[in-house]
Amino acid sequence: MTESIVQATNEAVAYIKGLNPTTPETGIILGTGLGKLVDHVEIEMSIDYGDIPNFPISTVEGHKGKLIFGKLSGKPVVIMQGRFHYYEGYSLRQATLPVRVMHKLGVKQMLVSNAAGGVNTAMKVGDIMLLTDHINLLPDNPLRGVHEPELGARFPDMSEAYDKKLIKRAVEIANREGILLHQGVYAAVAGPNFETQAEYRYVRAVGADAVGMSTVPEVIVCAQIGLPVLGISAITDEAFPEEYVIVTHEYVIQAAAIAEPKMVTLFKNLVAEC
Ligand code: HPA
Repeated sequence: MTESIVQATNEAVAYIKGLNPTTPETGIILGTGLGKLVDHVEIEMSIDYGDIPNFPISTVEGHKGKLIFGKLSGKPVVIMQGRFHYYEGYSLRQATLPVRVMHKLGVKQMLVSNAAGGVNTAMKVGDIMLLTDHINLLPDNPLRGVHEPELGARFPDMSEAYDKKLIKRAVEIANREGILLHQGVYAAVAGPNFETQAEYRYVRAVGADAVGMSTVPEVIVCAQIGLPVLGISAITDEAFPEEYVIVTHEYVIQAAAIAEPKMVTLFKNLVAEC
C-alpha cells in the first residue's frame, strides 16, 4: 500500500465506482459470527476484498471478506462482511482504510458490530450492548503516521465518539421491539488471545463493561472524518473474573448467533429510519 492514505483511498474508490454501484447511505461493519444480516439484503453487487486496490484481506474464520452493495429495508447500504483486526498483523492505519473508502463512496452514517466479552455482571451471553464510549487499549492508533490535511483533524475530538442521535434511535427501536439493550463502555485489546482472569479484572477496573478486539480503530477514523457512528456488541462470554471462564473462538461464534437476530432487527430499523 502506498504511504498516502488519501491516494490509497482514492484508488480503491475509483475501482469501486468503476463498477457503478448505487451510492450507499449507510455503511455497516459486521463482527464475528454476525454475518446473517446479509440474508436480509437485496444484493446488487458483491466485491471480494482481494479485487479492491489497497484493501487488506480478512484472514479470520467467521469473517468472509466481501464488500456488499444492496438494499436493506429499501435503503442503499454497503456492508463489510469481514473486518480487519490488529492481531492479523495489519497496522490500524491499513485496517481502517475501508472506513475511509465507504465514507468517500457517500455513506452518511456507520453501524458497527462486534463480539465481546461482558465484564459487567449485568451482561449475559447472547445479550447486546450499545457502545456509549470506549477505551483504546490497543498498542496502535489508526491516525498514527504522516498526516494529510484531507484526512480530517490531526487531533480529533472524541467527547462524543458514538453519535447521540443514533443511540437515542436505537434505544427507541429496542423498546418498541421488546429487545433488552444494555449500554456501556467497550475496551479494545490487541488479542488474539482471550484475557487472563487478572486482565478481565483490569479491564473492569479501568471502567469497561465489555472487551473485544475491534471497533475502536474504525470509530476513531469516523471521528476524524466526522461520520456519525453507532456501535453494538454481542456479548459472547460472561468474562466475570470471579468465575473461571474458558473462552474459545468457536464458543464466541455460537454465542454470537444468539444475539444475531436482535442485532439484525436493530440494524434493519436503524437503516429504514435513516
Ligand atoms: N475478550 C476479547 N475479545 C472477545 C471476547 C473476550 O472475552 N469475547 C469475544 N471477543
